Order: sequence, then C-alpha cells, then structure tokens
Amino acid sequence: MTGVSRGAPYARFRLPGTRGSIELYREDGLVGLGRRAKPRSLDVIVTSPPYNLGQPYTTYRDRRPRNEYLRWIGDLAAAVDRALSGRGSFFLNVGSPPRDPWLAWDVAREVGKTFVLQNVLHWVKSIAIERRFAGRAAGLGRDVALGHYRPIASSRYVHGAHEYIFHFTRRGDVSIDRLALGVAYQDPSNVHRWRSGRDRLRCRGNTWFLPYATIQRRSRDRPHPASFPPELAEWCIRLHGRLRVRRWADPFVGIGSSAVAAVRTGRPFLGFDIDAAYLAVARDRVRAALERGEGGFSSSSGPGRSRPAAGSTRASAPS
Ligand SMILES: C[S@@+](CC[C@H](N)C(=O)[O-])C[C@H]1O[C@@H](n2cnc3c(N)ncnc32)[C@H](O)[C@@H]1O
Repeated sequence: MTGVSRGAPYARFRLPGTRGSIELYREDGLVGLGRRAKPRSLDVIVTSPPYNLGQPYTTYRDRRPRNEYLRWIGDLAAAVDRALSGRGSFFLNVGSPPRDPWLAWDVAREVGKTFVLQNVLHWVKSIAIERRFAGRAAGLGRDVALGHYRPIASSRYVHGAHEYIFHFTRRGDVSIDRLALGVAYQDPSNVHRWRSGRDRLRCRGNTWFLPYATIQRRSRDRPHPASFPPELAEWCIRLHGRLRVRRWADPFVGIGSSAVAAVRTGRPFLGFDIDAAYLAVARDRVRAALERGEGGFSSSSGPGRSRPAAGSTRASAPS
C-alpha cells in the first residue's frame, strides 16, 4: 500500500470532445479501484501487474513467496470483480520467463476462480519470417526478423519473445468487435466465400505482433523495467468495442501506456501506480499525446491503417 493517497489525482486531463477525463492517482491500484470507481461502473480493465520476478522497480519490491503473490493476484481479481460492469472485459497481460513457464498460467488460474477465461491472446514481440512462407503477395525481398526481445544467456532455453493477454469476462459470453482489429485479406478474390469477408477484412486472430519501439537510451526513452506499448491497451479497448466503453482503468499504470491509449481511443480513464517517478513520466506522455493531437478515434490506428509501434514505450518483459 505504499504511496496510498486519499487526495486529489496526481494528474488530471480533460479528454477532448468528451465530458470525461484521464485521471492518474498515486495510490494502491486495488484500493483505488474500490475508492475511485463505483461498483460495476468500469467497462474494461487492462493491466499488467508485477510478475514477481525481481524486476528493479523503483518503489515496489517484486519478489515474494509464490503463494503470497498468488493470493495478492486473487485480491486483484476481487477488486476487479467489484468495479467491472456486467458485460465488462478484464484484459490481463502476464508473461512467463523461460525458466518458469507456468507463472503466467498460475496467475490465470488464480483469476479464473473469479472470472471466465474467454480469449487467450498472444502478444508477439519479435518474429522471424522467411520470405518463402510470406508468399509473393507480401512482397518480401528477403527473410526478415522483426521486433526486439530481451536476450538471455542460456544453453537450455530459447529467448522469450511473447507474453499472454488473458481476456476474462464474467460468463465467457461478452460480444467483441473482432473486425475493429481486422486485417485485409491477402487474396481479396476469395472474400465472397466468407461472410466475415465484408469490408474485405478478416479477424486478426489471437496473435498480436506489437514490437517494442527501438530506443537509444532507456533512462530517457523508456524509464521503466516492464512497460507495454500503448497499442496493446488500445487494441484491447477496440476489441471490446470502443463505443461500449464508458470508463476504463489500469490499476498498475506504470509510465502510462494505458493512459496514452485512453487519449487515442478517447475513452475516460483511471490509472493508478504507487510510484511517483513513473507517474511523472505517465503525466508527461499523456500531455505530449494530447499536444500531438492523438486524441480522437479518427487519428487512431484502425484496420488497414495500423499505427506503427514507434513512440510506444515498450519494455522488454522479463525473460
Ligand atoms: C508491469 S508494471 C506496469 C507497466 C505499465 N503497463 C506500463 O506500460 O508502464 C507494474 C507496475 O505496478 C506498480 N505497482 C506495484 N504494486 C502496485 C500497487 N499495489 N498498486 C499500484 N501500482 C503498483 C509498479 O510500480 C509498476 O509500475
């Protein structure tokens, strides 16, 4: 509960074109969800909790006995249960290091005591594609290796280049807007064969390639050991159905990737972190996104006009 504050938000921004706002609190996220949101009032929660891997966060100590950690994840699920609306979505990003592959699933199992696991999405940070598999339509001139991951020195394990985004709902029956993240058919001549071929888009599926932006200096460009890119939260909102989101939250907002997604999607937002230094970065990123005119859905990445991950604050997940 370090840094709990009962007072005003650490930072507050009006969302252009709406009556809503983006509010950042220096507060325990579990407590904050209960204190700042009415019961069943949030339509989406997107978050990435600490993974209990000893990450060097400035304030939080990221190493406790596994049982104690999982009990705390259960407390998080209870806090989300109270705040989430009946048809809401809880998107939980967790990764496992190669040496502890069950970690993410242990977390998912714990949350699964409260919610139904509706979708398992794979956040792919890096992928190598061979030209011959890409097909002629892709126009690749050579094999490519895209994105970044944190390399490990090991003769046993391959690098961890992906994490999970577990999509939990109350009963596993929440409608989602699959074509909001749709991708163009490679061969449009076959489109008429599938009903979902309308608009020449098909469902993206459960692999989301969202690379970290290339950075020059971590302390300046991504001052956090485990952030995700704004696009990850943005895509969760769009998959749930942007216009169905009255208000949403991230109880572990870090340097504000979800808050930037709130600017881009134009949906009112609550973010919490116990660390003032991270919140200062979050505040500056939201301000910069608003100044750049990223507010409003029309400027956001949509099917066929995906925003590159440049400018995202991507940090490598623990591997
Ligand atoms: C995995 S990081 C989230 C990073 C975030 N998604 C981003 O892109 O910047 C977890 C964050 O949880 C914060 N944290 C740890 N315990 C907390 C608590 N009880 N309440 C709120 N924040 C907490 C840490 O300071 C850290 O920034």
